[in-house]
Amino acid sequence: MRSGRPRSAWRTLTGVAENPLLEGLDLPGAPDPCVLVIFGASGDLTKRKLFPALYALAVRRMLPDRFAVLGSSRTELTDDEFRAQMREAVREHARDELEQDAWDELAACTHYVQTEFGDDEEHNEVGARLSELDEEHGTQGNRVYYLAVPPKAFPMLVQELGERRTTQGWTRLIVEKPFGRDLASARELNALLTRYFREREIFRIDHYLGKETVQNLLAMRFANAIFEPLWSRQFVDHVQITVTESMGIEGRAAFYEEAGASRDILQNHALQLVALTAMEPPIDFDADAVRNEKAKVLRATEVEAVVRGQYGAGHVEGEAVPAYRDEEGVDPDSTTETFVAAKLRIGNWRWADTPFYVRAGKRLARRETTIAIHFERAPHPLFLHADGLRPNVLAIHVQPDEGVSLGFGAKVPGQGMTVRTVNMEFLYGGAFRTGLPEAYERLIVDAMRGEATLFTRADEIEEQWRLVDSIHARWAGQTPDFPNYEAGTWGPEAADELLHRDDRSWRRR
Ligand code: BG6
Repeated sequence: MRSGRPRSAWRTLTGVAENPLLEGLDLPGAPDPCVLVIFGASGDLTKRKLFPALYALAVRRMLPDRFAVLGSSRTELTDDEFRAQMREAVREHARDELEQDAWDELAACTHYVQTEFGDDEEHNEVGARLSELDEEHGTQGNRVYYLAVPPKAFPMLVQELGERRTTQGWTRLIVEKPFGRDLASARELNALLTRYFREREIFRIDHYLGKETVQNLLAMRFANAIFEPLWSRQFVDHVQITVTESMGIEGRAAFYEEAGASRDILQNHALQLVALTAMEPPIDFDADAVRNEKAKVLRATEVEAVVRGQYGAGHVEGEAVPAYRDEEGVDPDSTTETFVAAKLRIGNWRWADTPFYVRAGKRLARRETTIAIHFERAPHPLFLHADGLRPNVLAIHVQPDEGVSLGFGAKVPGQGMTVRTVNMEFLYGGAFRTGLPEAYERLIVDAMRGEATLFTRADEIEEQWRLVDSIHARWAGQTPDFPNYEAGTWGPEAADELLHRDDRSWRRR
């Protein structure tokens, strides 16, 4: 990628120039020259996420100065056909308006090669194209391989890449989910990857870790002195983690029928949020230190109770939607769960007696990802008129309305001493007056830099599968009575009962 536009141009585009709040930021420099090879380039992820992210990076001049993208898949396409498809994807999904100049720069370093794995000749063609791109773009043999292929293509691809790696330049591998379908298969994948690549070359992606608000959880906990002393069983009654979507399966029946909410969201995104919320302070913000702490707390976690659900027909955001079993490609007797809620116990000094409740699912009342820390009640009821007073809740709003709120008791104006809960709010948009980058923008650049803090390590993934396997073991041999919630609601009644049994209830905004 040639940097035709001066650096000050992206400062204007990103709003840095006009935004005094962002002035003087210590922005990391561009990554080393490299080729990003996307396997699975004709798939949905490339169109919806990867190219829009690359375009946002190109606009902001955050890609390496010497850079190329090589798309690869089984579909036969010329470079120009691939570019035209990606232009359309960027127009549809990117967070910025498509600007012809910026697109032309990215298009000029975008190429395509058709591949059929297991076919030696085809792979030689990838190798030959990569050598040409090194010549043309000065990328020095450095490679980031993005593995966005279906699980069945994965082992052969890893093996081919591993066996044909050259000694020139560095190699990094970004591995997309699903990472296995249970503990045994995840272990196999980890063993396969580490047969050919070193752990520091492997970047297992969980895009939730690339979200600004998720990283802000670490900033809140470890850049402030006031939260961490309260962050334990002594002051926290329980924690609620919600990852709900109003969206359905968006035509991904084949994938979702096999996955369900437990594999699609709980195993990765939701459990990563648990780990970041519950972990001990790392000694440093580097990949080893952060991931050691996450792995440790996951190891201490157990599932105490679980509830599953599947949606029936209903209304979501005013629109009638069919039952899951009536979605195209779904088995009419499907027992796949579209909702899961679990009560987790963390067996360590910090969290013993403080349950973590987690829920995730599709076709629920609204899209919301929140981490809510519910504090203990005030120890002594001093005020008579405090019916509207709830225990303090610190809520990290991952999405939408990205920010943080703290609920606390305040005196209602007027005579007497009536106390009610009010909210103190921090909103990203208001405080920094800038749009938030997409998770993939951050993660692609981090992988190019070899920075693995926001990627999951083999041991974390395996602990996450251990927990999800324990849920599947409970369900084995049972036939669920599905559907058990109406689309557009907050899930099955049993999910409410899970908390009511403990004299608690799910937080509603
Ligand atoms: C993906 C799941 O990992 O995350 C999807 O496979 C889900 O089913 C998506 O919709 C949610 O991501 P986000 O960033 O929109 O919350």
